[in-house]
Amino acid sequence: MEQYAIKGGNPLVGEVEIGGAKNAALPILAASIMTDETVYIENMPDVQDTNVLLKAMRNIGVMLDRNSRHSVTINAGQINSFVVDDDHIRKIRAGYYLLGALLGKYKHAEVALPGGCDIGCRAIDQHLKGFRALGADVRIEYGLIKAHAEKLKGAHIYMDCVSVGATINVMMAAALAEGQTVIENAAKEPHVVDLANFLNSMGASIKGAGTDVIRIKGVSRLHGTEYAIIPDQIEAGTFMFAAAVTRGDITVKNVIPKHLESISAKLIEIGCEIKESDDCMRVVASKRLKPTHVKTLPYPGFPTDMQPQIAVALALSKGTSIVTDTIFENRFKYVDELIRMGASIKVEGTTAIIDGVENYTGATICAPDLRAGAALVIAGLSADGFTVVDDIHYIARGYEDFHLKLQSLGAQIELVNSDRDLQKFKLKIG
Ligand code: UD1
Repeated sequence: MEQYAIKGGNPLVGEVEIGGAKNAALPILAASIMTDETVYIENMPDVQDTNVLLKAMRNIGVMLDRNSRHSVTINAGQINSFVVDDDHIRKIRAGYYLLGALLGKYKHAEVALPGGCDIGCRAIDQHLKGFRALGADVRIEYGLIKAHAEKLKGAHIYMDCVSVGATINVMMAAALAEGQTVIENAAKEPHVVDLANFLNSMGASIKGAGTDVIRIKGVSRLHGTEYAIIPDQIEAGTFMFAAAVTRGDITVKNVIPKHLESISAKLIEIGCEIKESDDCMRVVASKRLKPTHVKTLPYPGFPTDMQPQIAVALALSKGTSIVTDTIFENRFKYVDELIRMGASIKVEGTTAIIDGVENYTGATICAPDLRAGAALVIAGLSADGFTVVDDIHYIARGYEDFHLKLQSLGAQIELVNSDRDLQKFKLKIG
């Protein structure tokens, strides 16, 4: 079983290249099957979730040519099945993007109910409501979501809550529906905008992505395209908080600073210095952090996917902080692990009350999900002594070469496979 072995205490210093956004890559890969022509995608992150989705696409007859680690050529002219179901796809969230893509193009899709990180109830009612509004018959049978339509017709859809996944799924199906669709109360995340730009580059007519109201004029067909995925806002934010937590000096490269505004605003509030240039952000943390309060919100609010990372920083600040997650109700499972490292945190419902301590001490801990896993690694990097992180397969779902990038910043971290490896690491590091 793979683990991360960490010796904490080094401030992380240097530059790190940020990869393509996982949460943009997933819908863009799914949407690439909406044309029979060839699609070429660049800046694709090489992470577990995208690889699982690519495998599921191959299983239904999509031709994939991985030109390099970060680029892929896709041709879906020969799809031979509309049923997407395997052990792996059931574990990720984004398999359901094939539902919107297949329904839009073929008016029929059967996709396994989604999994993903266990961070709370992750309803899909808004996806189903959107498909039904477009004229599809949608039912859940034998663990599959089945959607079928004779034809899809544009509709006015008001989302009851702001949902990234539902906005994306409905946008895909509506791109090939007859007439105009309006999505009200749409999600505004950068990956929603990136998917709209991608679909428009294939000939779709989508306006308003990035605002509350998205207007889609259905077209009869989409064509091939070449497209580069935006940089990953959450990977960048994670390294920015790694600088804060380890009192380091990290420059994240290949980022879009606008997408990082809520993250850098909080870093400044807690006492870090931020230097911004065209596609880089430098975070310098030279003194003990200050406490603050934070509430996660849909974009442009502070992202729920950064909630564990900021909590790890605030737990080392001088004073009391309050962190509230308004998006997912069960996103504090990492708190018990952090308490094992010396943190003082009390969780009440969806709020964590954090009394800052001077430092963490190393412990053996488990990653409970993707983002919390990354946050715990960062805690380990600032802790006194050795930390061992179990269940790191979660981290591989969304971070490419996480430990290698951290090593390049001076972190003492290694991927180990056995007790023997772990002992060797301890002897080597001393
Ligand atoms: C996506 C991201 C995830 C991020 C989340 C919020 C991907 C693959 N995952 O997840 O990393 O944490 O956005 O930014 O992009 N909801 C409903 N009914 C629905 C859909 C959602 O009630 O039909 C609720 C959810 O339970 C949740 C909230 O809406 O409380 C937001 O969920 P949503 O934006 O859909 O998250 P995901 O798309 O699953």
